[in-house]
Amino acid sequence: MTETKKIAVISGDGIGPEVVAEAEKIIKRTEEVFGLSFTTEHALFGGIAIDQKGTPLPEETLKVCKSADAVLLGAVGGPQWDNNPKELRPETGLLGIRKELGLFSNLRPAVIFDCLKDASTLKPEVLEGTDLMVVRELTGGIYFGEKFRREGANGEEAVDTCVYNVTEVERIVRQAFEIAQKRRKKLASVDKANVLETSRLWRETVNRIAPEYPDVELEHVLVDNCAMQLLRRPASFDVIVTENMFGDILSDEAAMLTGSIGMLASASMGEGSYGLYEPVHGSAPDIAGQGLANPIATILSVALMYRLTFGYAEAADAIERAVAEVLDAGHRTADIASNKSSALSTTQMGDLIAEAIRK
Ligand code: IPM
Ligand code: MN
Repeated sequence: MTETKKIAVISGDGIGPEVVAEAEKIIKRTEEVFGLSFTTEHALFGGIAIDQKGTPLPEETLKVCKSADAVLLGAVGGPQWDNNPKELRPETGLLGIRKELGLFSNLRPAVIFDCLKDASTLKPEVLEGTDLMVVRELTGGIYFGEKFRREGANGEEAVDTCVYNVTEVERIVRQAFEIAQKRRKKLASVDKANVLETSRLWRETVNRIAPEYPDVELEHVLVDNCAMQLLRRPASFDVIVTENMFGDILSDEAAMLTGSIGMLASASMGEGSYGLYEPVHGSAPDIAGQGLANPIATILSVALMYRLTFGYAEAADAIERAVAEVLDAGHRTADIASNKSSALSTTQMGDLIAEAIRK
């Protein structure tokens, strides 16, 4: 028996509770098969926390997260909170939890699943071999800079400031170099250094530390060009590192290359092995509560958690293998099924994957 680890579980809103329930099924199954041991503690976050506690990120939730080794998050948000003031929006909770837990690095892999090639809007020959990872800076830049309104010469103005210091750039870029070293050893640093001062600092910093990673091939790509190259030559990218807002936009683009956003997992990491893991997709309120959601992205988030936080590589591999096996056998949830009438429900998909997990 291994040491018992603690996972904070945040189901959130919309389809969050449904997909998280399947991920918990997978956690239980790996305890049985691999002799792992976890305690889970549930906490309120997002829209449901606004409704029940009057804030998207209750103190109690932060406490639960801080006392855990890792956090599993479903999804947050929904139309009923869209017109709320800033403090009462799920998104504000998301930014708060990232900052409070020091999660400065957001890893969003985009991989083409062979059996789902047809799901993409791009031609198969363009997609062939695409396997990239967007490393997005998550606690700085324009998201967290000073924001205010003021009276200007021509009436009301709004200001968002974008600030980066060298330390913030260095730590994320180092993580990206290290990730590239474990992959295909290519790093694209994305900025807008032809216009923005923060981008010039970013690029200088990248160039200063690049000699410490001589085995990694580095290219600088301007963000507008990167948006284009992702559609033109996606397979040529390995690791992409970029600042917060560029990363927000490019990681959505990269996810859509795969055509199967219901399949992609992500991790938000700080300095050590602590991490928050969540599907790339949102809370999909339109299909919530109907058993239609694809739980695979959340299940694969558990695999990512096992690998990055706990170092349980064998169990992580087994989860990923089980997902591949079930897909290869032709099982599909509605989002990725060509024949919707034979699609599996959320729990059926979770059951099949759980059963397929073995040593
Ligand atoms: C994401 C989301 C969030 C972001 C929003 C909901 C605040 O789009 O995780 O990518 O912009 O970071
Ligand atoms: Mn986003």
